[in-house]
Parts: sequence; C-alpha cells; structure tokens
Amino acid sequence: MDRALQNLICDIPKAELHLHIEGTLEPEMMFELASRNGLSLPYPSVEALRAAYDFSNLQDFLDLYYEGANVLRTQRDFYDLTMAYLRKAAADHVRHVEIFFDPQTHTDRGIAFATVIEGILQALKDGEAELGITSGLILCFLRHLSEDAAIETFKAAEPWHDQLLGVGLDSSEIGHPPSKFTRVFDMAGKAGLKRVAHAGEEGPASYIHEALELLQVDRIDHGNKSLDDPALIKKLAQSGMTLTLCPLSNLKLCVIDDLGDQPVKALLEKGVQVMLNSDDPAYFGGYLNENYLAVARALDLSAADIERLARNSFKGSFLDEAAKARHDAAIDAFMATQPAAPAF
Ligand code: HPA
Ligand code: ZN
Repeated sequence: MDRALQNLICDIPKAELHLHIEGTLEPEMMFELASRNGLSLPYPSVEALRAAYDFSNLQDFLDLYYEGANVLRTQRDFYDLTMAYLRKAAADHVRHVEIFFDPQTHTDRGIAFATVIEGILQALKDGEAELGITSGLILCFLRHLSEDAAIETFKAAEPWHDQLLGVGLDSSEIGHPPSKFTRVFDMAGKAGLKRVAHAGEEGPASYIHEALELLQVDRIDHGNKSLDDPALIKKLAQSGMTLTLCPLSNLKLCVIDDLGDQPVKALLEKGVQVMLNSDDPAYFGGYLNENYLAVARALDLSAADIERLARNSFKGSFLDEAAKARHDAAIDAFMATQPAAPAF
C-alpha cells in the first residue's frame, strides 16, 4: 500500500459503532487488575494468555472473553478499562464512539449494575473532556440467556435509561434468534432507546430479517450473511440500513477464511451503508485503524472507498443531524489536505 493511502487511513476522522468495552481488556491490564483485586489467572504470563487467543468460532472466543471479564470488579476497573480504550481510539482519530457493554456478564457474578455503568459513564465523560471524543452507551443483552433475564436487566437499568443510547443483542448467535427477544426490544423502543442487534455473523440471513422486522432495529451488527439473500441486500440498500462490519473479528472467529473474503467491498458496490469497526480489539489483533489497513490491503481499497467508509461511520451513528454535518465537514476539510491521487 502506498504511503499516502496509509496516512489517509490513519488520520481521517472516523466513528466506531461496534465495540464491546469488555473486548478491549488487553492481557497486560488483565494481569494488572487480577493483581489489584487479589485474583490469580490460569495463565503463567501475558504471552501465554495471548497465545490462547486462537479461536475456531464465536463460542471459542466467548468462553475466554467471559473468563477474562472476571478480573473486572470495581468502578475504578471499569473506568480504567474504558479510559484505556478511549486513548487508543483517540490515537486512531476516532471522534465518536457508540460502545457496547454486557451488564449480565458482571451482575451474574455479583457485581452491582451501578458499579459497572458508573465506571464506564465517568470515563466517557472524562474522555470527552480530555480527548474530545463524543460517545454513547449501548446495553447489550446476552442472547444465550433467557428473555426474562434480559427484562430483569433492563428493569435494573431503569435509573440510567436516560444515560443510555440504546440496547443491543450479543453473545452466542446460532440457536438464539432475535425472535427470542421481541418483548424486551419492544420495551426498549417504548422507553425511547435505539435498538441494534448482532445478526448474520454466524447465524443465517433469516436472523437479519428477524432483527429488522421483529426487533425493529436501527442498525445491524455484522450482517455478513446478508449476501446469501439478494432480496435482503436490496432491502438493506433501499432503506439505508447501516451494517457495522468487523474485519479482523471475522478473520479471528473464522467467519471468513481470508480477509480477501470480507464483504465490505461487495456490500459497498451493492449500495449498502457499511462501515468498519474493531469489535473486541484486545482479542482480535487490532484497533480501528488496523481494521481499515488490513481490509484496504486485502481488498485493494481506494482512497475513495476509505473516504466513503469514514463518512458512513458518522452517517450510521445515532448523532443528531447537526453533529453528523459537522463531522462530514471535518472530513471535507481533511480531504482537502490530502495529496491528489496519481493520474494513472
Ligand atoms: N459476537 C457476538 N457476541 C459478542 C461479540 C461478537 O463478535 N463480541 C462480544 N460479544
Ligand atoms: Zn460484536
């Protein structure tokens, strides 16, 4: 890749809309928090832990991800985790983030909901003041658990509903279709929250239909399997529905065999509003710019493709129209500083 394209990728303003805060727990921090909280890890070193990040599918990863989250105990732990991510995001020229958190992963092992959310919210506030990154928080329900458990979590979150941007759906997809969560998504819609769901990562295209029709989602997380269904692709393109793609995640979880099979380019060409994200960067080998760089190399993306993806990242956000226009203008200003593309 030429240096000009590399610089453009690294420096263009961008938003991240698919990021699990628990998935930003780096092995070094996992050891640090274990020590701070008087816990021992079943790995002798950071290197041994990192070497265990070799997954054959989503469940393989989730088993380690939930185990790793066990070191998060105090409000300060959640604060430090979130601040560390925001610093990395700032270095990648991320200007806006919409962050997922999985409260059930923590409340089910006796951590108070308030401990989790207050730590994250305080860091988001400080991150905006110190780093200029705006943000929103999306509460995800674990789909391998029951809908009643999701409803209980939603009710426990009630004092913070006005500080949430939306609700989401994550964890083990196959066998846990969106239709399992219609009531809780209906409650979230009535509470004025945005709705998103992981769909079509490992699960079939029919799960994307369900997320759209039964959960009334405002965005689809992943959505790779939409390419199996031409009528669905047409519907996504016509409605302007955003798909939050995660290239390095797809590779690490064997959703694709090769980054050259990542559907970003095919979906862009079909007029679908796609954008790029890092998902669980501490586990998948790279933060946002690494994801842009990796697919740009594998799929030979052009400067125009990168510009489109960066614009799409703000367009697909839940920012208001004035803020979206400001970010679009910032991209205009940034593009004006870039060297002209060679004329051949
Ligand atoms: N898919 C589903 N659930 C998740 C993921 C993911 O990529 N990351 C964290 N929880
Ligand atoms: Zn995800």
